[in-house]
Amino acid sequence: MKTHHKPIGIFDSGVGGTSIFKEIHALLPHEHTIYLADSKNAPYGDKSQEEILRLSIKNTELLLEKNCKIIVVACNTATTNAISYLRNTYDIPFIGIEPAIKPAALNTQTKTVGILATKGTLSSALFHKTTDLYSNGITVIEQVGEGIVPLVETGKATSDEMKTLLKSYINPMLEADIDYLVLGCTHYPYVLPVLLELLPKHVKIIDSGLAVAKQTQLILKQHNLLNENKSRPENSFFSNGNPKVMEAILKDRFSVKYLDF
Ligand code: DGL
Repeated sequence: MKTHHKPIGIFDSGVGGTSIFKEIHALLPHEHTIYLADSKNAPYGDKSQEEILRLSIKNTELLLEKNCKIIVVACNTATTNAISYLRNTYDIPFIGIEPAIKPAALNTQTKTVGILATKGTLSSALFHKTTDLYSNGITVIEQVGEGIVPLVETGKATSDEMKTLLKSYINPMLEADIDYLVLGCTHYPYVLPVLLELLPKHVKIIDSGLAVAKQTQLILKQHNLLNENKSRPENSFFSNGNPKVMEAILKDRFSVKYLDF
């Protein structure tokens, strides 16, 4: 198989990275993709760095076995804890996702921004490095989104339970006068309907999904790996959790296979 016909590999701790898949598929509709949802091990955010690294290696090696030409780590927690290792170890390009603190810090009028992410992301060295770089003169309110991922993983992204949980995270940020909220986890775009209900209009929400898709396009182009074949691509999804929840998240446009990995 010619290298540019090979699929783009995408992995996440579960269904959250499908928010990235959707952006990639919209921007690169002719690319084959293989998505791995490691739902059995979600959430990654509460695990040690060693464990996050071990799981990221496991997912990467499975995607390499499936012949992927590039891997998108569609998980902030895995990116911030494992991407340097993956880039230094494997001979294909890796795209990661990190909380988009830069645009929030550059545009805030109140000089106060909120960030909602997992414990694993907020405690990582990479997150601290990026935040230190851009947060001069800005107050960054970091909030661990404890409990959000398990609710999304069980199909309760817009439940009353989610609303109560998010309120408890958002209200202190509003009291501190944030005007930007950065979503630092790929599961969080699925709670947008609830966030939009809770946040006043002047608070802008930033998520990095589209930026990741554009970066994937750029790197594929630079490596001469864009698929030139314009026929209908194959978009495969594998989950070691409940495929039905994932199919619902994908609005039943794609089928999801159970795979024990
Ligand atoms: N989607 C993952 C992220 O972006 C969720 C992490 C988790 O499983 O806790 O961080």
